[in-house]
Amino acid sequence: MSPPLIVASNRGPLTFERAKGGALQARRGSGGLVTALSSALIEAEGVWVAAAMSKGDREMVAASKGGRIDHAEGDVRYRLRYLDIPPDIYDGYYNRISNGMLWFAHHYLWDTVTSPSFGPDVDEAWEAYVDVNRRFATALAEEGEALGGDTAFLIQDYHLSLVPRMLRELVPDALIAHFSHTSIAGPTYFRMLPARIHDQVLWGLMGADVLGFHSPAWAENFLLSARQFPGARVDLARSRIVTEGREVMVRIHPISVDGRAMREEAATPRVRSLRHALNRWRDNNRLILRVDRLELTKNVVRGFQAYELFLRRNPSWIGRVRFLALLSPSRMELPEYREYTEACLAEARRVNDELGRDGWMPIELRLKDDYIGAIAAYGLYDVLFVNPVIDGMNLVAMEGPLLNRRRGVLVLSRNAGAYGRLGRYALSVNPFDVDEMADALEEAITMPVDERTRRSRGLSRLVLANPPARWVGGQLEDLERAKRRRR
Ligand code: G6P
Repeated sequence: MSPPLIVASNRGPLTFERAKGGALQARRGSGGLVTALSSALIEAEGVWVAAAMSKGDREMVAASKGGRIDHAEGDVRYRLRYLDIPPDIYDGYYNRISNGMLWFAHHYLWDTVTSPSFGPDVDEAWEAYVDVNRRFATALAEEGEALGGDTAFLIQDYHLSLVPRMLRELVPDALIAHFSHTSIAGPTYFRMLPARIHDQVLWGLMGADVLGFHSPAWAENFLLSARQFPGARVDLARSRIVTEGREVMVRIHPISVDGRAMREEAATPRVRSLRHALNRWRDNNRLILRVDRLELTKNVVRGFQAYELFLRRNPSWIGRVRFLALLSPSRMELPEYREYTEACLAEARRVNDELGRDGWMPIELRLKDDYIGAIAAYGLYDVLFVNPVIDGMNLVAMEGPLLNRRRGVLVLSRNAGAYGRLGRYALSVNPFDVDEMADALEEAITMPVDERTRRSRGLSRLVLANPPARWVGGQLEDLERAKRRRR
């Protein structure tokens, strides 16, 4: 029997939108997090606390009692609590601090010659971040009280780094796990944040019983930062921190994707017909595929440059290979993302202008949110190109090999969390080394079939061996252990 469970994340599992007829309809988010946590929550009859992000979400909240939304889809029942946060406060918390500062710090995104440059306006945004974290902690305490018993709280990601501490203050005995889905910066880079923010983030997180990360490298970086925190005793060998007489366990649980659900999706008539259309479009060309949220960390521009270099070095491939880039727009509220989107489009145009021929273009860039299109394309690639500058995990590197039907080769950045598990069956690349990436594309495209078979089988075996339920299960076991140690 699982304990009562409460999940908190900035983005909830369902987004509500007005359909053409006027009714509010729910759309379920994709990705490992929603899959893994939804099934655990449904089993435990738990609650998911999240921010209302869309207009439809806010309308649902307005029509509900205190933001509590019960939503049934077939036999599946979601119990949600959505928090309606005033837009200017949400902007400070989400755009300016979470995505504009913490995300930048953890992914080494600043060009440090000129940025960041923190001025007095940071304080106002930080207050908004504290405010929203407090709203979450309060809602969690209320939901915990309603559920009763030894509720396990599973708090997600950098948006909510103060919640473990705030919740601990409200409910001292609470069983609290926090999971970071991002990479974690090393201590020197992380110290670029204003000291008060840097310290409060660490202090906030250390309010948890268990801190989870996708990869040993991220856990180690966190421990190294915590070691500099006054009053925290860090045991690197045993991966734990002692602070205020309490123990904080630091654990590694790599998330994965739901192989069965994805294969079912790939077999639907809709995906099948999309796949046929794509197959006609690719014609006799080999297909290099990338699928990304259009995100600063994903390294799209260098990826196009590497492909260009490969074509220039191997002109016999001109007219025989196509690069399909499926990019879904993201975080367009931030100027850096708008500029990067323009840079990606411009680079694709340049390569097409310089190398395109009548009836053949080297790059096809499709800019839209198209999960189903990606599922169709996964079936068809010869090379899947995943070259992020740095990435907490990267689920594309798992989804592709699960669904591919052509013994496609994975070219994978050594800086993706997924590299730890999948690296031995991938061609690995340094995401800054355009020359090496061009060589890897050549090696992938000319790889003999038996070697491709060995690698692609190895990849799907590894992905299937780690179902999403294991990710949640591991965290719940950690919390059980934390509970026993308290006694
Ligand atoms: C990626 C990251 C997560 C993060 C999410 C937020 O998936 O891996 O760590 O929570 O982006 O994206 P959003 O669109 O909700 O800002």
